Amino acid sequence: MERTFLAIKPDGVQRGLVGEIIRRFETKGFTLVGLKFLKVSRELAEQHYDVHRERPFFGGLVEFITSSPVVAMVWEGDGVVASARKIIGATNPLTAEPGTIRGDFGLNIGRNLIHGSDAQETAQREIALWFKDEELVSWQPHLTPWLHE
Ligand code: GTP
Ligand code: MG
Repeated sequence: MERTFLAIKPDGVQRGLVGEIIRRFETKGFTLVGLKFLKVSRELAEQHYDVHRERPFFGGLVEFITSSPVVAMVWEGDGVVASARKIIGATNPLTAEPGTIRGDFGLNIGRNLIHGSDAQETAQREIALWFKDEELVSWQPHLTPWLHE
């Protein structure tokens, strides 16, 4: 089953949006399979954002992501990677559509509330980076027949 990695960034936690953000994936019907609250180490932040290492905002991004706790999650469901990106909205909250998380709650590209894996291969890499196998829970929600024909 397809899985994605999502992380509520320090701004989402500090602003008290954890419940609101989780609710959007829960009510959509995706299945939570991993969840933890942690202060991110510099090493983990640098590995997570390795693809942006040469970008001018890399230093600030690592500082920010390590500055205060985050909520790291793994969600499961058919099409969850692309769908979660739609629920999250465009990278810049000012241009993100209303109805998306960033469009509804954000103002600034450096404070865009949540991370979501951008492709299935990225999701696999990020899940392995953030979670041990035994921290992920495979389970069958009783709602399944009410969500899928
Ligand atoms: P993530 O889900 O966090 O990976 O966001 P994204 O996939 O929508 O954007 P991308 O991977 O291109 O960038 C990663 C993060 O770097 C973004 O979420 C922003 O917080 C930050 N970022 C990207 N571009 C800029 C920029 O031009 N300026 C600043 N300050 N931050 C940026
Ligand atoms: Mg990205």
